[in-house]
Amino acid sequence: MKDIARQQMSIKVSTMDALNEQIKMEGKASASYLAMASWCDQNSLPGSADFLYQQASEEREHMLKIFKFINDCGGNAISPEITNLNHDFSSLEEVFETALEQEIAVTKSINKIVSLAKKSEDYAVENFLQWFVNEQLEEEKSMRDILDLFEVMGRDGIAIKLIDERIK
Ligand code: FEO
Repeated sequence: MKDIARQQMSIKVSTMDALNEQIKMEGKASASYLAMASWCDQNSLPGSADFLYQQASEEREHMLKIFKFINDCGGNAISPEITNLNHDFSSLEEVFETALEQEIAVTKSINKIVSLAKKSEDYAVENFLQWFVNEQLEEEKSMRDILDLFEVMGRDGIAIKLIDERIK
């Protein structure tokens, strides 16, 4: 991008670079949920599969929200390359543990960009990211609530079927 174009952006270059990294993370989260949904489909867990397909499309929406924001600010949003996806899980519980880890990593990353935006006096970005801060609270909570089901209901075949229905 030409220097003059960068100077005309309404966000700082460092913040835009961090937001492009976040686009990658949301894109990877979307693809990762799709891989988890596929595993659930193959293991006859339709409730969890539906939930994870839904998560995959929500993460794609998050990615697009940031994508559009960067371009609306006069910046350059970059379509991410997604690599190194895990398709292999040993149990439904592991799927949701991975989901929670992923959400925690996203929260940390969003918080870091909020700090960066504050430091760089990029208040439009700080304001824009508030929606993501709240969204992450909800997403982490829903994964924790699902993981609690394994503690309450157990991990044998019937328990897993009941958990799957509950998730739906
Ligand atoms: Fe958009 Fe749940 O990270």
